[in-house]
Amino acid sequence: MLPEPDADALAASARLAERIRAQIAQDGGWISFARYMELALYEPALGYYAGGAAKLGAPGDFTTAPEMGRLFAQTLARQVGALLEPGDAVLEFGAGSGALAATLIEALAPERYLILETSAELAARQRERLGTRAQWIDRLPEGFRGVMIANEVADAMPVHALAWRGGGVMERGVAQVDGRLAWAERPAASEVLAAARRLEVPVPYESEIGLVSRAWMKLLAARLARGALLVIDYGFPEREYYHPQRAMGTLMCHYRHRAHGDPFFHPGLQDITAHVDFTALARAAREGGLEVLGYCNQAQFLVNCGVTDILGAEDAGDAARYAPRAAEAQKLLSPAEMGELFKVLAVGRGVPHPLLGFASGDRSHTL
Ligand SMILES: C[S@@+](CC[C@H](N)C(=O)[O-])C[C@H]1O[C@@H](n2cnc3c(N)ncnc32)[C@H](O)[C@@H]1O
Repeated sequence: MLPEPDADALAASARLAERIRAQIAQDGGWISFARYMELALYEPALGYYAGGAAKLGAPGDFTTAPEMGRLFAQTLARQVGALLEPGDAVLEFGAGSGALAATLIEALAPERYLILETSAELAARQRERLGTRAQWIDRLPEGFRGVMIANEVADAMPVHALAWRGGGVMERGVAQVDGRLAWAERPAASEVLAAARRLEVPVPYESEIGLVSRAWMKLLAARLARGALLVIDYGFPEREYYHPQRAMGTLMCHYRHRAHGDPFFHPGLQDITAHVDFTALARAAREGGLEVLGYCNQAQFLVNCGVTDILGAEDAGDAARYAPRAAEAQKLLSPAEMGELFKVLAVGRGVPHPLLGFASGDRSHTL
C-alpha cells in the first residue's frame, strides 16, 4: 500500500485530474501518454514538478546523486573543468534543488553558470540557494560555447507509450473509462509508428519511445557552437532497452521513496519517469551534427574522473566525516545501486578527446 496523501494534496491532484479530463474531452476522448505525462509533471501550479511538494531528498519522493552529498559533483567537476575553455559557460538543465550547481560553482568558478529549468517552483528554490552565482534562462542560447549538463533530466521528459499486438503497433494513450483516467489504445500513426517500426521486438510487447528527448537533443545540437553535453541518467542502449525480457517497458512512478507502475495514482503528486534509450539520444546528436565523445556506466565514469582519489584525500581516521562519504561512494559506484544502471553519454562539437571520464571502458560502440 502506498501512503495516503493529505487533504490539500488530494485536492490539488483532483484539480489536475479535472484539467486532464478537460484536455481529453477537448481532444476527442483520447490523449497520448506523452501529453498525459506533460500535464501530470509540468502543468503550471498543478503538475508534479510545477507544484510545491518536496520531491527531492529524504522528505520527498526520490533521491538523486547530487542530493546524496558532494562526492558526485566534486568528481564531475573534474570532467567539466577539463572541458572548459576561457570564456566558456556551464549550462545545467533541470537543476533540481541546486545541489549540483552549488558544488560545481564552488569547484570551478565558471565565468557564467546558466540554469535552464522548466519548473518555476524549482527555479525559485534554486534562486534561493544560489543567489547571484547562477543565471536562469528560459530558452537555449544560440551559439553556446561550454559544457551542458543534464543529470536525471532526460528520464523526466514525456514519452510515448506503445504496445506491439498481434494486430499491429498500438499507441497507448489515456482516456476516461468509467469516470477514471485509464490506458486506452489506438493504432499508432505518423512519427510514433515510424519510430516503432525501427525496433524489433517480440509480440506482445509494451514499451516507451522518447520522441521529446530526441527533439531536445536535436535542438541542443543546433545551438552548441563548441563544447560538450553530458547526459547522466538511468537507461540502456537500444538493444537492451527493447530486450525481449523487458516486455513491460520501463515506466516507473515514485511516491515517497516507493517505486510502482501506476501513472494514474494521484496525478501531480508523484514522479513519472521512463528509462533513457541512449542509442536514440546518440543518433539524434549525430543527426544534429554532433560527435559522440563517450558512453559508459556511472561507476566507470566516476572512477575515470578520480573519485577514489577524492575519497582517499579524506581522513579515514575521522569516522564521523568519512563514513557518510564512503556510503555515498558505495551508492554511486555499486553495480547493485547506481553504478551500472546509470550511464554517462557525452556528445559535442570541436572538443579534443578522449575525455577524462571515458579514458577506460568506453562503450560507445554499443550504442
Ligand atoms: C528528476 S529531477 C533531477 C533534478 C537534478 N538534476 C538532480 O539531479 O537532482 C528532473 C529535473 O528536470 C527538470 N526538467 C524536465 N524537463 C526539462 C527540460 N526539458 N529542460 C530543463 N529542465 C527540465 C525538472 O523540472 C526537474 O528539475
